Amino acid sequence: MTGIVISGTGLFTPAQSVSNEELVTAFNAYVENFNGEHAAEIEAGTVEALTPSSVEFIEKASGIKARYVVDKTGIIDPEVMCPRLPERSNDEISILAEMAVAASNEALAQAGRSASDVDAVLVACSNLQRPYPAIAIEVQEALGIEGFGFDMNVACSSATFGIQAAADMIKSGNSKAALVVNPEICTGHLNFRDRDSHFIFGDVATAILLEKKEDVRASNAYEILGTKLKTKFSNNIRNNFGFLNRTSPETAADKDKLFVQEGRKVFKEVVPMVSAMITEHLEDNNLRADQLKRLWLHQANLNMNVLITKKVLSRDPDETEAPTILDEYANTSSAGSIIAFHKHKEDLDVGDVGIICSFGAGYSAGNVIVQKIN
Ligand code: COA
Repeated sequence: MTGIVISGTGLFTPAQSVSNEELVTAFNAYVENFNGEHAAEIEAGTVEALTPSSVEFIEKASGIKARYVVDKTGIIDPEVMCPRLPERSNDEISILAEMAVAASNEALAQAGRSASDVDAVLVACSNLQRPYPAIAIEVQEALGIEGFGFDMNVACSSATFGIQAAADMIKSGNSKAALVVNPEICTGHLNFRDRDSHFIFGDVATAILLEKKEDVRASNAYEILGTKLKTKFSNNIRNNFGFLNRTSPETAADKDKLFVQEGRKVFKEVVPMVSAMITEHLEDNNLRADQLKRLWLHQANLNMNVLITKKVLSRDPDETEAPTILDEYANTSSAGSIIAFHKHKEDLDVGDVGIICSFGAGYSAGNVIVQKIN
């Protein structure tokens, strides 16, 4: 695949941020309340006492220090522990579309483009707030784009899968320029009462504009040299929420209607899968690992990214080779590798090659090899 470029990227960051300290204080207050309320059952051995969380564990195990969120108040209230988002009327723009529009406007401006230059919108993300009408069509309407839009979900790999879909559409002549947008309110699917995962996610939106190489107007454009996607079924990251289970996600019995994972297994299984996939993909494109100037990796766990980069490069990476945004943003699902790309793409030289790589539930993994052209 050549001839298609990423000509602009955009990032919407929510105004509020929650530090590990704030999150752990709320969690531990919840634990204390729960254990106090169930003291007799705990004493009798019929209820298991909850264990407190720790700031040190979170940073050491994941590299996360804070996360941006769309509603801080609800998340850090031990009585609530989830984002409280007032429902909007059908006449108002939905929150996901609003975030997507903000990120898209930046991507368009960066590319020196306006809505009239674009004819396709793909909203590619893990956490769609409704089934229909597609959020992508609402974004299309809000931006004033003539053409078509659709939503797609491949969990954390949605952005790279969306990039391949958009690039294929442009290549085949079905679109002249396409926006791939990744609005993620991950705190909506996170169980803030689960010690193993309450710290993992944050909220954000990213956008990517793709167009033909000959149409590019702005600098810092990256040509797509190749894409490679892979999926392999696994239950190790799962969320069973859906229309066929209409019970409250608040009750203990419904914990699996929120994000659940076997984090250790994910770590062990995904690291070899992704590093092998990057190595094979480079070979397919007649590239050597030492030609890679940058790896914009999915942002789920710092140790995981260091290990993947080490396996690919066969040496210890320096900080600039695989930039981290995880400390500030936490895991933002499909948006993570795009935030890293957005923030760390301007300092490369023309001709430099890098790879955007995502991985997550499914399992799913996606590579996009890119080369800076101007
Ligand atoms: N505070 C303090 N201690 C905690 C804790 C918390 N919040 N959560 C777990 N622990 C404890 C565990 O009880 C365990 O204690 P034990 O050894 O006494 O049993 C210990 O810390 C290790 O727990 P574990 O879950 O094995 O930690 P880990 O080192 O594997 O890190 C993850 C957990 C989730 C951060 C890590 O496995 C990970 O990021 N995996 C990849 C996940 C991923 O990429 N997911 C994709 C999502 S889209």
